[in-house]
Amino acid sequence: MDERVRVVIDGEPLTVPAFTTVAAAVAMRGVGGTRRSVTGEPRAALCGMGVCHECRVTVDGRAHVLGCQTLCRDGLSIETMR
Ligand code: FES
Repeated sequence: MDERVRVVIDGEPLTVPAFTTVAAAVAMRGVGGTRRSVTGEPRAALCGMGVCHECRVTVDGRAHVLGCQTLCRDGLSIETMR
């Protein structure tokens, strides 16, 4: 099966394989990071299993969604906090 879905990350479209996590899609974009720490350090997905919360992004207007626990679907809007 070669199903693909189209998402928008920070206003830029990206096509990814179905069942790709949001965190993986952000990494596939090639511009690292999902957010910044309170001291301004760049952060990115670390554990990939819902523990570290470093993958938090805004998905369809909902803030602090765990990107590693969320699957991409067609038309999904993802905003990083870089
Ligand atoms: S990568 Fe650790 S919670 Fe998502």
